[in-house]
Amino acid sequence: MEYDRFAEIYDVWTDTASSTSPNLAFYLDAYARTSGVVVELGVGDGRIALAAARQGRAMTGVDLSAVMLRRCRERAERDGISALVTLIEADFRTFVLPEPARLVTLPYHSLGHLTTLEAKRDALRQVHAQLAPGGQFIFDDFLMTPARLAYMRQVHLRAEYRLPNGHDALLWVTSLMDEASQTMRVVTWEDELDASGVLLRRQYRPLSLSWLRPEQARTLLEETGFAVEACYGDFSRTAFDPAQADEQVWVARKGQA
Ligand SMILES: C[S@@+](CC[C@H](N)C(=O)[O-])C[C@H]1O[C@@H](n2cnc3c(N)ncnc32)[C@H](O)[C@@H]1O
Repeated sequence: MEYDRFAEIYDVWTDTASSTSPNLAFYLDAYARTSGVVVELGVGDGRIALAAARQGRAMTGVDLSAVMLRRCRERAERDGISALVTLIEADFRTFVLPEPARLVTLPYHSLGHLTTLEAKRDALRQVHAQLAPGGQFIFDDFLMTPARLAYMRQVHLRAEYRLPNGHDALLWVTSLMDEASQTMRVVTWEDELDASGVLLRRQYRPLSLSWLRPEQARTLLEETGFAVEACYGDFSRTAFDPAQADEQVWVARKGQA
């Protein structure tokens, strides 16, 4: 599981990403509006789910990475909110909840970790099966534009920070983008430096990701039984306009039985 290694840099990664602050506020609001079981798929280290639990919201988190889940559990314990947090180690395509959910979310482009349309369809079918009648499903995906493709292909110095051992570190990133298959390899490397700036160690942590075009996302939702309620172009709920949008944020509902 790629995220077992990526977990070590996840804090730096999210602290230095432009979309993490708006997506946090958006999903916290959705959780606060829902009464009943709320489930975050790809809960990771609990960046969003634990913020909701700190506000008193009971949360269920699903993730395939044992290391990310361990971080989430340790943070919940440290903050004294374990009683509000249920964690399930499972895949998006096969997770089973103890009771049907009123809201399932899949934040931060995480559906993209399933890199084929078939796998994404299986995940959406499973989300639909695990929702209560009338329940909501919310997810966001990359909106891949020529400008974003070009940006992601560049090498970026993402962050400069101090490691727990006192050494300085630089975190770099670039991506191999395959437009034909709508997949990418996001390659990060962390350089650990000694006091005189000499490279002591370099660690690579690649991630496999993919993206949907908006019309594919709508078709997948409809094929798997959802009614689309809204598509936003950002986390402020601006109506989706392909010429202006930064993201694709989908809100869908399972019909009443
Ligand atoms: C980008 S992180 C999102 C974490 C958190 N939701 C957030 O917004 O910070 C994606 C998470 O999805 C998990 N993940 C990736 N593929 C998965 C799969 N097939 N099934 C379950 N979890 C998966 C990873 O382990 C990782 O924790």
